[in-house]
Amino acid sequence: MKKRQLGHSGIEVPTLCLGGNVFGWTADEPRSFEVLDALLESGLNFVDTADVYSHWAPGNHGGESETIIGKWFKARGNRSQVILATKVGLPMGEGKQGLSRNYIRQAVEDSLQRLQTDYIDLYQSHRDDESTSQAETLGVYADLIREGKVRAIGASNFTAERLQSALEVSRKQNLPRYESLQPEYNLHDRVGYESALEAVCVKNGLGVIPYFSLASGFLSGKYRSAADAASRPRTEMLKKYFNERGMRILESLGEVARELKAKPVQVALAWLMARPSITAPIASATTVEQLHELVGATRLELPHGAVEKLNQASAETVTA
Ligand SMILES: NC(=O)c1ccc[n+]([C@@H]2O[C@H](COP(=O)([O-])OP(=O)(O)OC[C@H]3O[C@@H](n4cnc5c(N)ncnc54)[C@H](OP(=O)(O)O)[C@@H]3O)[C@@H](O)[C@H]2O)c1
Repeated sequence: MKKRQLGHSGIEVPTLCLGGNVFGWTADEPRSFEVLDALLESGLNFVDTADVYSHWAPGNHGGESETIIGKWFKARGNRSQVILATKVGLPMGEGKQGLSRNYIRQAVEDSLQRLQTDYIDLYQSHRDDESTSQAETLGVYADLIREGKVRAIGASNFTAERLQSALEVSRKQNLPRYESLQPEYNLHDRVGYESALEAVCVKNGLGVIPYFSLASGFLSGKYRSAADAASRPRTEMLKKYFNERGMRILESLGEVARELKAKPVQVALAWLMARPSITAPIASATTVEQLHELVGATRLELPHGAVEKLNQASAETVTA
């Protein structure tokens, strides 16, 4: 299985990461176990979650995804085989959010407990927190790394300016640096990442693990209209894709998939994997069949012509 370095962290990861926001939401516990088992059986071992997943599902409060992963580690005794990424910072209840020293101290213990482990491979700031100084956040991460609770840190949903300034603080104050970025990025949503973040990541040698790699399932081609997606749990997220450009992208994905005897999801992931700055796209699966299709992307090499076709179909104005 192909592996890549995650920034300068010294951690090697496969070219695909399994997203965990479905655990406790669109995949119940037994189904989540099946998908996780199938991941390891496929030779992949990189899993992304967050403390806050999946609080949006009715009856949930956050922590459900980590809890399921923790039970799976315990049941299978396989913690050491997995590269585990989780996140901190989004609201988890009254006064529980952000990237302050005190809050991260408390949040990491809660995550470790739910995950039934004593370390996190990649601990990520889920979003920026401008009310806390970057030195304070990086300082507490330094302590957690020293204590062996965290191996490396990453950022998610940061602007290019704030990511660059965090990297400067790390360098000047001799603090650990964000080794990875987790941005929203896929064939449909390109500008947000390509306009400025991509350059910061390349210049600084960061790992990049984009989320919504399948545009919430849209890039599978299984929805052709907003009506098709109307009864799905992801209806709200899918709405923005049903436009002329979205349809053009689906057409070209379908054509490339037919030419290569592959599935559209595999082509969409292979396009991301082929971008020079991308380490491993993150995608979730709600069934073992979906997982197997996603894993197939790690074996798919897109010919230059296919990449060009997809680039043209998905082109949008880059503003910066
Ligand atoms: N940092 C952040 O702020 C942030 C935000 C969002 C997500 N994330 C991370 O990124 C991960 C991926 O995001 P995501 O899961 O929301 O979106 P995604 O990967 O773009 O879409 C995944 C969904 O597509 C569908 N799908 C997967 N494989 C398929 C196949 N072979 N054929 C047809 N449909 C398929 C499944 O949903 P259905 O079966 O329901 O159709 C699956 O749950 C998350 O799990 C999470 O770890 C991070």
